[in-house]
Amino acid sequence: MRKPLMAGNWKMNKTILEAVSVVKALKSAVADISDVEILLCPSFTALYAVNNEVKGSNISIGAQNLFWETKGAFTGEVSPAMVKDTGCSYVLVGHSERRQYFGETNETVNKKTRAALAIDLIPVVCVGETLAERESNVTFQIIEKQIEEGLAGLTPKQASLTVIAYEPVWAIGTGKTATPEQAQEVQAFVRKIYAQIYREAADKVRILYGGSVNPGNVSELMKQPDIDGGLVGGASLEAESFVKLVKYSVAN
Ligand code: PGA
Repeated sequence: MRKPLMAGNWKMNKTILEAVSVVKALKSAVADISDVEILLCPSFTALYAVNNEVKGSNISIGAQNLFWETKGAFTGEVSPAMVKDTGCSYVLVGHSERRQYFGETNETVNKKTRAALAIDLIPVVCVGETLAERESNVTFQIIEKQIEEGLAGLTPKQASLTVIAYEPVWAIGTGKTATPEQAQEVQAFVRKIYAQIYREAADKVRILYGGSVNPGNVSELMKQPDIDGGLVGGASLEAESFVKLVKYSVAN
């Protein structure tokens, strides 16, 4: 059985104080949850403080990015060991905003994924098609390439530990969610590709859906057999709505 994972991606939001205050509220509200894994990805600057707040709780933390080199003259970059040092156990890799605004490619995603795994950080590798790609019926080719190239060279064990997030670019921050059926169709395809490359890892890998997940649509999405959790932006920024997402099965 795959344990569901509900992950909040705070993107470039919240000062340290703001982040800690949301985490305080969240921590007590989800203290009774053990059947869903809870992950928060604050900005780099808040990671250390947020980690101090979640220590000993059921909330894990992750960074939103990392660089693949271990150290050196790379001004502004953050190494895998530095990410780990703040208390992170996860790291987002290849989010569509990074691909779109910061030139990330399947090749850099692969370097980052491998660098994360090498230091026992679990990468959450984001894949997804743009609206133009969906409309030209190349969604499956795009996703296949993102998985094949982004995850090239992983051992089967690493492939099973890695988390995939399917995030159709047209659904991110737009309020336009993929229907549960649309999401399921692609997520099942991701698992099929995974099975071709990594065999048994396909049953273990958790595949999250991301793109305008909110308290109103989470339970229908989570009913799909290949949706193992959510990667949530907007609705994770306040404790109240993120708690509803984490407790999707309680509400329904
Ligand atoms: P959203 O963002 O929930 O605000 O659409 C999701 C994401 O970018 O991970």
